[in-house]
Amino acid sequence: MLSAVLIFFLTISVRFASSYIQAFETESANRSSKFLGFGIGLVRFVNSNCTSSDGLEGICYNRWECKRVGGITSGSCATGVGVCCIVQKTCDGTTTSNNTYFVNTNFPNSFTGGACTLTIKKLGSDICQARIDFIAFSVNQPDATGNCLSDGLTITGGASPVPTICGENGGQHLYVNFAGNANILMNIYAGGVSNSRRVWNFKISQIGCDCPTQAPSGCLMYYTGLTGTVRSFNYGTTGNAVATRQLTNQNYGVCIAMQPGYCSINWSQTPGDQYSFTVTGDTPTSVTAGTISTNAAAVIGAICTTDYVVIPNPTFTDTAAAANVDRFCGNGFEPLSTSSKPFVLTVVNDATETGDLGNRGFSLDFSQQRCSGVPLG
Ligand SMILES: *[C@@H]1O[C@H](CO)[C@@H](O)[C@H](O)[C@H]1NC(C)=O
Ligand SMILES: *[C@@H]1O[C@H](CO)[C@@H](O)[C@H](O)[C@H]1NC(C)=O
Ligand SMILES: *[C@@H]1O[C@H](CO)[C@@H](O)[C@H](O)[C@H]1NC(C)=O
Ligand SMILES: *[C@@H]1O[C@H](CO)[C@@H](O)[C@H](O)[C@H]1NC(C)=O
Repeated sequence: MLSAVLIFFLTISVRFASSYIQAFETESANRSSKFLGFGIGLVRFVNSNCTSSDGLEGICYNRWECKRVGGITSGSCATGVGVCCIVQKTCDGTTTSNNTYFVNTNFPNSFTGGACTLTIKKLGSDICQARIDFIAFSVNQPDATGNCLSDGLTITGGASPVPTICGENGGQHLYVNFAGNANILMNIYAGGVSNSRRVWNFKISQIGCDCPTQAPSGCLMYYTGLTGTVRSFNYGTTGNAVATRQLTNQNYGVCIAMQPGYCSINWSQTPGDQYSFTVTGDTPTSVTAGTISTNAAAVIGAICTTDYVVIPNPTFTDTAAAANVDRFCGNGFEPLSTSSKPFVLTVVNDATETGDLGNRGFSLDFSQQRCSGVPLG
């Protein structure tokens, strides 16, 4: 009883001593830590997210709590009374807390090869979805047919299929819904030719069923900005010496959250890279003026049957291209706009890339456009 009063008193006095502490109390998160100070007493602070010394997102804990969840401390938080705790797991690990990082053995050095699995365990019954951020993911390129033969990532156990991914994918992300209470498994296989840059660091966050940032069911990727860039998996600005960077057997949706007051969305090739839409047909390795990244190199409509993106009901910006077409392939992409909702882009790649040379996939920029006559909400 006495100690409870003492804790209360010290908490209050620290609270008054530092206006910052009050700020922690008003954070939306509701879990809190007790910190045993050096002869000072106990301080409560909210377990909010924090940024570690090396820029990763962690959770603000006291040292003991961080140790309990298997984390490593990196920097301080809660004005120095807490530690920014980064929970990092490697091969054969299991997630035990939100914002777990999954890295290769030897990280940040190269993974020598073999199989490596992370089990994503639902943190609670109120969790519906996992978001996986590819902070780094670099493994071998696909083989000449576009299959992730020697190296790849598969994600299984979720409510919907995830394509197999290999090559260079830093900066990408994806969402997977939990299927009931089943674990989601991230499996990486790496064999064949060794690679001195076989490295990964994924951030796995778990999203509550009532969380407004959940991706709509069925969207593998989800963007919430007014503008942004969507890249196919393994898109890159250099070619794959073997054949193509395009991956086979892709069929997924990329969704853009329509913002209030915005009614349409424009899509165009990311400027600065002539190869930013090279999806089918041989892509010349030395660019000849006029052959690539032009409206003439764009292929649209029913002729796109192997690899293509789908954007519903477009209006073209530059030319009055054929009406009623919404499949896009070839070596160029005509800028377009659509007001069909929801804002979505579908990626379809068939089972082989044999016959295509030098394709790098796509990098497309989107920008939501204001509704005419509707004020911003
Ligand atoms: C915070 O915790 C209290 C006590 O456990 C609970 O009554 C309250 O609903 C929680 N608030 C939020 C926002 O979760
Ligand atoms: C904490 O998370 C929120 C929402 O995800 C984000 O906007 C904010 O930048 C994060 N803060 C830190 C310090 O990482
Ligand atoms: C996990 O962390 C992310 C990012 O900080 C946050 O948006 C999400 O709500 C957290 N999930 C839970 C269940 O607290
Ligand atoms: C968006 O697309 C429309 C129709 O194609 C076009 O008129 C407009 O200029 C585009 N806006 C931007 C910012 O690219």
